Amino acid sequence: MAKNKKPSTQDLSISKKNIFITKSPKETTALGVCFAALLKKGDIVFLKGDLGSGKTTFTQGVSKAFGNKGFARSSSFMLANEYKGSNGAEKLFHLDLYRLSPASVWDLGIEEYLYGGNISLIEWADRLTAGKNDNNWNIEFQTLDGGKRKITIEKIK
Ligand SMILES: Nc1ncnc2c1ncn2[C@@H]1O[C@H](COP(=O)(O)OP(=O)(O)OP(=O)(O)O)[C@@H](O)[C@H]1O
Ligand SMILES: [Mg+2]
Repeated sequence: MAKNKKPSTQDLSISKKNIFITKSPKETTALGVCFAALLKKGDIVFLKGDLGSGKTTFTQGVSKAFGNKGFARSSSFMLANEYKGSNGAEKLFHLDLYRLSPASVWDLGIEEYLYGGNISLIEWADRLTAGKNDNNWNIEFQTLDGGKRKITIEKIK
């Protein structure tokens, strides 16, 4: 993590934009666990970054913090996975839109996920037609040398 310290929710709420460096998948999951505490019912989180940059690993931490045991990693067939929610939200949704064209995203019934008072984390949100500007958080993942990741968490609204 940045400055070799564990991220805390306090770190995340100091300013609008926070940058963390994680050195392993475990640290990225831990950051997801911390971030989960800041999420509120109805929040929409966009996860941006190249293939393999850590978006799913981070989401696994959020899911874990909400008390979910099993977690489905992205597969060629995954579009949306549903988990138990927390922080006032009944459900946590993990969407991966990589394989979809914008038209088929619409067919997925995206409104149900985004506007149902749940919490949604979305990979490859650039595929969205509706909801493009409705995200509360932007998280950018960059792959650095030696298994490190730069993770920038920004609160939009
Ligand atoms: N610091 C790190 N944080 C997260 N993942 C890391 C890190 N270092 C190495 N890895 C590895 O990088 C890969 C990240 O995979 P992950 O599925 O989380 O990426 P993704 O951004 O969701 O990719 P995709 O766009 O294909 O869905 C895993 O194999 C993980 O073990
Ligand atoms: Mg993924």
